[in-house]
Amino acid sequence: MSSPEVATYPIADPIPAVRPPAPDGGSETALEAGVTMPAEDIDVVPEASDSFVLTPYVESLTARALTYMDVGYALHFAGPAGTGKTTLALHVASKRGRPVVLIHGDDEYASSDLVGKDSGYHKSKLVDNYIHSVVKTEESLSRIWEDQRLTTACVKGYTLIYDEFNRSRPEANNVLLSVLEGKILNLPSLRRSGEGNLHVHEDFRAILTSNPEEYAGVHKTQDALLDRLITINLGHLDRETEIAIAMAKSGVGRADAEAIVDIIRELRGVGVNNHRPTIRAGIAIARILAYHKGSAQLGDSTFETICHDVLNTDTAKITHQGQSLMVEKVQETIRNVCSEQAGRGRERRRRERERK
Ligand SMILES: Nc1ncnc2c1ncn2[C@@H]1O[C@H](COP(=O)(O)OP(=O)(O)O)[C@@H](O)[C@H]1O
Ligand SMILES: [Mg+2]
Repeated sequence: MSSPEVATYPIADPIPAVRPPAPDGGSETALEAGVTMPAEDIDVVPEASDSFVLTPYVESLTARALTYMDVGYALHFAGPAGTGKTTLALHVASKRGRPVVLIHGDDEYASSDLVGKDSGYHKSKLVDNYIHSVVKTEESLSRIWEDQRLTTACVKGYTLIYDEFNRSRPEANNVLLSVLEGKILNLPSLRRSGEGNLHVHEDFRAILTSNPEEYAGVHKTQDALLDRLITINLGHLDRETEIAIAMAKSGVGRADAEAIVDIIRELRGVGVNNHRPTIRAGIAIARILAYHKGSAQLGDSTFETICHDVLNTDTAKITHQGQSLMVEKVQETIRNVCSEQAGRGRERRRRERERK
């Protein structure tokens, strides 16, 4: 670690309605995860931020993942955007206590980019947290590769997190085959320092994440690579975890968080894409609601407006006779969820009165 200073990356989630469209319709970079990493150097052990929540769901996945890694396997978290893959990868890595090297899949990588090469490949990526527009993290990927990050991780026995690895072309990922299987890193002949093969340190482990193959900009993964990984398929976080995240990331109370989460969960069942809205939409609604000091109830017009603005993007495509059904559907869901919750609240108060 070259920099003792640890900077907290903004944990803000972009609000779906105002952020520029992601090419795949919703993938994110790891820098949004609720984890602190030093700004200058990524070879450190990540630490959970204050808004990280540890529910039984997260704990049991973490325990499974750590067991497989203890035995020596590389892990693969597969699932749609917003299912907590990146955050879980960082959390599991932090539990191992080894420094972490974090890389993001990219269509333009070649194997030589992963292990490092001598020629001047250059690409820089601006990770713009958008809402917190004052905080822009410019990360030069060329620096990462020229540092030979994969090589460093293999030789020093670090944990590699390869986020959204299936955005890189399969040929670029071939280098991982011998690393994961033969525990040998083949270095391209270009490598100045000479020897062709390096032995991989026994503590080296890899955690890969991927988005489903039907996402735009994602490549099919070679079976040979999948065979060397233990894949844990992630669906949406459970209700309890989503409620805890919505509360932790916005400061809204439990009743509000429950209503918001129930609305997004019910809307996932509508239409063809049952992956959206994701928890990110839930976090956005909760944050704006907290900012407005509103409450998630029927008749709170601010709440209803926020829900429509944040959720319309997700389901605008569902039409009936040329009309978007979404506005109606969102309204109906708010009504169902909120009146059910109000009913439960009345019942609880009645029981409390009876006990007194
Ligand atoms: N255990 C957790 N505690 C707090 N926030 C979480 C947790 N898991 C996921 N999140 C939040 O949920 C959102 C989606 O998680 P992320 O890891 O980015 O999903 P994915 O990588 O699958 O797209 C992010 O805003 C993330 O910060
Ligand atoms: Mg991710």
